[in-house]
Amino acid sequence: MSAQTILRLGTLKDVAQFQKHLESQHLAIPCDDEVTIGSDSPLRTPIHRVGFEIGNRIAVQPMEGWDGTTDGNPTESTIRRWRRFGQSGAKLIWGGEAVAVTPEGRANPRQLIIAGHTEKGLAQLRSALVEEHRLTTGSDDGLLIGLQLTHSGRFCQPDKHGQTEPRIAYHHPILDRRLPLSNEIPLLTDSEIGTIVEQFHTAAATAQKLGFDFVDIKHCHGYLGHELLGAHTREGNYGGSFANRTRFLREIVEGIRTKAPGLAIGVRISAFDMVPFRHDPARSSKGKLGPGIPDGLNGMLPYRYGFGINPDNPIEIDLTETFRFLSLLEQLGIVLVNVTGGSPYYTPHIQRPALYPPSDGYAPPEDPLAGVARQMEVTRCLKLRFPNLIFVGSAYSYLQDFLPNVAQAAVRHGWVDLVGLGRMVLAYPEILLDATEGRAIQRKRICRTFSDCTTAPRKGLPSGCFPLDDYYKESEYAEQLRIFKSSGAGTPIK
Ligand SMILES: Cc1cc2nc3c(=O)[nH]c(=O)nc-3n(C[C@H](O)[C@H](O)[C@H](O)COP(=O)(O)O)c2cc1C
Ligand code: SF4
Repeated sequence: MSAQTILRLGTLKDVAQFQKHLESQHLAIPCDDEVTIGSDSPLRTPIHRVGFEIGNRIAVQPMEGWDGTTDGNPTESTIRRWRRFGQSGAKLIWGGEAVAVTPEGRANPRQLIIAGHTEKGLAQLRSALVEEHRLTTGSDDGLLIGLQLTHSGRFCQPDKHGQTEPRIAYHHPILDRRLPLSNEIPLLTDSEIGTIVEQFHTAAATAQKLGFDFVDIKHCHGYLGHELLGAHTREGNYGGSFANRTRFLREIVEGIRTKAPGLAIGVRISAFDMVPFRHDPARSSKGKLGPGIPDGLNGMLPYRYGFGINPDNPIEIDLTETFRFLSLLEQLGIVLVNVTGGSPYYTPHIQRPALYPPSDGYAPPEDPLAGVARQMEVTRCLKLRFPNLIFVGSAYSYLQDFLPNVAQAAVRHGWVDLVGLGRMVLAYPEILLDATEGRAIQRKRICRTFSDCTTAPRKGLPSGCFPLDDYYKESEYAEQLRIFKSSGAGTPIK
């Protein structure tokens, strides 16, 4: 499949055509004919549940910015992004962006760090967001703001762009080859993992002191928490059995309860995964990536390197352990769950469905709408089974013009509690506010999934929406951006 053979949603005239298209593709994506305006809107119905007051059903997803200072403080463009999160009208801010609990756990040398010397900067992000939210919506009632805490594990790149410094939980035959990593590279020891657990405790206590309502213990996208969930082959306390693979989570939660009593906890989880994909070399040509295919599985079955995956057929989802994980969250008193899938590093089409792939990706192996439908369906199944948990759903940005109609239907049918927006917030933060207030949607600002916000960081640039957000044309990044574009990296790959 290539971008040319996929129907561009921007060419559809109206919702009826979109619904017809869904039907023709046999995609189970609910879509309302009209978006309700005002307080009757399902998207504007507050949630009052188990100690949480959330003023509407719109969430901003965490999005790493690659634009902090080298010592992990926010810059002007970081603050601006958080202001725009506030402007979105969303009453749930799920983490803002991944913030490293220790300098060596950063995914990029410009990632934010939570530590004594960054307290002021992180507090400023929060207050800028609240201020902007009040200005836009008139009140910060029902606004819940979390901070996403992370250790990047296998994908650490703390010191220099392009210089990976992986801290791995186990050897992964495909991902090790890609980095590349020799078999000799030592694994994180149990004692080193214990130290990271303590760094999460300290970070959570700091987040509480700075006024954040909750912390997200990140368990997604191939980073350390997620890698440990799939550590079937690891020996010792953090590998093998389900109890061992979730020990990291349990120990973090236990320490937070003691060191930051009263602080709410959320978990963003890659609820399912797949074997890593790569572009098909047989169908690639100069300047044209081939479609994604599973990276050779020879001799690897049953597949013992994932979570939420069928070991006998690792391109198939298996939610058995995901259900167990959510039961564990319930036992631990954790109510906030953010559902995502896969990883942007090895299954980008699963994680963030896009028409145009990032430069290190592959052409879409399926209509990106199938990727949206997959994440929606998994979330629906989880919600059905765990009605008392508050679920945030992901991967809505590809819906483009029809995002408001689908978001409303998903909430109305109880498929999800809150609709999370990622890329769309970089391009057009207030899209759902506009839609539910009866203002015309600004089509020119709609994210068309060009993937520049993913590709640019791979080249050492921040992750803004360069095609649609004029800010970057006048920012300190303008010259780098010009080079990025002239290199062809910023133009859609066919
Ligand atoms: C530039 C960029 C940075 C991201 N950074 C994070 C992050 O720090 N933490 C996280 O959990 N997800 C991160 N994501 C994933 C998004 O939160 C979201 O799951 C994904 O983009 C799919 O949602 P969407 O279709 O609304 O974009 C990032 C995505 C993008 C595009
Ligand atoms: S660069 Fe802008 S249009 Fe492209 S995917 Fe990111 S947010 Fe969307």
